[in-house]
Amino acid sequence: MRRLDQLLANLGYCSRREARAWIDARRVTVNGIVADDPGQKAASAAVQVDGEPLDHPDGLLLLLHKPAGLVCSHDEREGPNVYSLLPPRWRARNPQITSIGRLDKETTGLLLLTDQSALVHRLTSPKHKVPKIYRATVDRDLTPDLIPLFAAGTLQLEGEKEPCRPAELQITAPHEAELTLTEGKYHQVRRMFAATGRTVLTLHRARFGELDLGDLPPGQWRELPLDTFHPAF
Ligand code: URA
Repeated sequence: MRRLDQLLANLGYCSRREARAWIDARRVTVNGIVADDPGQKAASAAVQVDGEPLDHPDGLLLLLHKPAGLVCSHDEREGPNVYSLLPPRWRARNPQITSIGRLDKETTGLLLLTDQSALVHRLTSPKHKVPKIYRATVDRDLTPDLIPLFAAGTLQLEGEKEPCRPAELQITAPHEAELTLTEGKYHQVRRMFAATGRTVLTLHRARFGELDLGDLPPGQWRELPLDTFHPAF
C-alpha cells in the first residue's frame, strides 16, 4: 500500500503536486470510488486513472532490439540513449528503467531493460554465467588458432585482474564470427579481438541465455514476464 500521490509519481504519471490536482479533478479512483485525499494509501491494483488501470504497477522487463548510435547510460552528456525509445511515462518512472548490462553505442542487438534493481544485480553479477552470443565482423582474416586461444580461459586483457573466462568462437566467414561469452567485461568482445590484432567493425548481440530477438525490428521492444528469470537461472 502506498500513498496515491507517491504511487502516481513513481509510475511516471505526474509529479506528486500534479497528483493532488488530478485527485481534485476527480480523475483518480480507488476500488471504483473517487479519491479525495492524495495521502490515502492504496494497493496499486485498486487504483484507476481516467477509468484505466495503472500502467505496469508491478514493474517492467523489456527485450529491446538496440539500434546503433544510442548509449545505455542515462547521462545526457554521453549522447542520445536507448531510453529515448520508450514512452515518456515509462521514462519518468522511479525507480527508473535501466539496462541489464550495457552494449556500446555502436553495438546492436538484444538488450534487456528493467526497473527491477534486484534483477539487474542478479543478472550482471559475476556469479551469473548466462551465455551471451555476439556476432562480430572484423577487419582481418580470422584464423583457426583463435578458437583454442579464446577457449583456454587464459586470455588476459589489459587492466583486468582476471583472465577472460573460456569463450566459444565459431568462425562463420573469413571476417565474421560468433562468440559466446559468459561474462561482460568492459568492451570485452572488441578487446578480445584487439588482443589478436583485429579491429571489430560491427558487433551485434544475438542471444542472452534462452532469449533471442526473433523478428523484432531495431528500435522496437517486447515485454517479458517479470518472472522470466527464475531465481535459479
Ligand atoms: N563487448 C563489446 O566490446 N561491446 C559490447 O557492446 C558488448 C560486448
